[in-house]
Amino acid sequence: MENIDLSSMKLSRPELFDFEGVSMIHYFTDNWEKVKNFQARPDDILIATYPKAGTTWVSYILDLLYFGNDAERQTSKPIYLRVPFLESYFPELLPPGTELADNLPTSPRLIKTHLPVQLVPKSFWEQNCKVVYVARNAKDNAVSYFHFDRMNMGQPEPGDWNNFLQKFMEGKNVFGPWYDHVSGWWGKKQTYSNLLYMFYEDMVEDTGREVERLCSFLGLSNSVEEREKITKGVQFNAMKQNQMTNYSTISVMDFKISPFMRKGKVGDWKNQFTVAQNQQFDEVYKQKMKNTTVKFRTTI
Ligand code: A3P
Repeated sequence: MENIDLSSMKLSRPELFDFEGVSMIHYFTDNWEKVKNFQARPDDILIATYPKAGTTWVSYILDLLYFGNDAERQTSKPIYLRVPFLESYFPELLPPGTELADNLPTSPRLIKTHLPVQLVPKSFWEQNCKVVYVARNAKDNAVSYFHFDRMNMGQPEPGDWNNFLQKFMEGKNVFGPWYDHVSGWWGKKQTYSNLLYMFYEDMVEDTGREVERLCSFLGLSNSVEEREKITKGVQFNAMKQNQMTNYSTISVMDFKISPFMRKGKVGDWKNQFTVAQNQQFDEVYKQKMKNTTVKFRTTI
């Protein structure tokens, strides 16, 4: 698996279409029967996020907590192979996410998804799997998504920033509206106790504290020294330098346009939004989020 060559991966930008009421691209729906019927195991851990909310960060933290002592894994296996992206389907280039997950030899298996809660394969709920959800404030999430779509040829063409922002407010992004995603998963938390709902802003504010939260949710007893070492190893600059976590091995991402590990900040939206865009965004936000109690911080 380590030898998969993604350096020659060429993709043409896909079109968005409606899939079960959610905007999607074919790379995440072509394998739908297998995704829908995926057989989760009770000890699987599902990492769920809206794209660009800190998926890679929390994936790497969990990977180190469980498998940090496996030197070979840590030095030769990129994060996207350690933590398969369940619904992804790029057949010429990489085994389907379902197959990568089926073939994971570890226990637990760490599995990533960006699916809105209503589309998650039902076996995860039937098996009462632990789920870690990470959410990020809408403004920084939108900015990060814009730069990601600019540089990732496997994503739809984003247009200019204003154009992208209008589409974001309409929910015309891959994996649908941010608003529904974060509030749908927040709603799930009220009835499903094996779900930890985390915030990107909290992770930036105090990574060590959030590592502790993860350990207590997962029932892990890693030593204090280990936790401190992990907290250091997952800082933005360390992950940006680390070839196993910075996605530098995937050529569909053009880092000359924007790197995967871009800024890693809370409040960077202020450098992107105009005053008028911010006003409009706040109005739309109030409307879209009026039926949920989930609260975000746009600065820390
Ligand atoms: P920016 O584009 O704002 O820099 P995902 O993994 O869900 O695709 O999210 C990517 C976003 O998380 C990027 O945000 C990336 O820089 C940020 N990120 C990744 N690792 C991080 C870390 N260790 N600390 C802070 N931010 C991190």
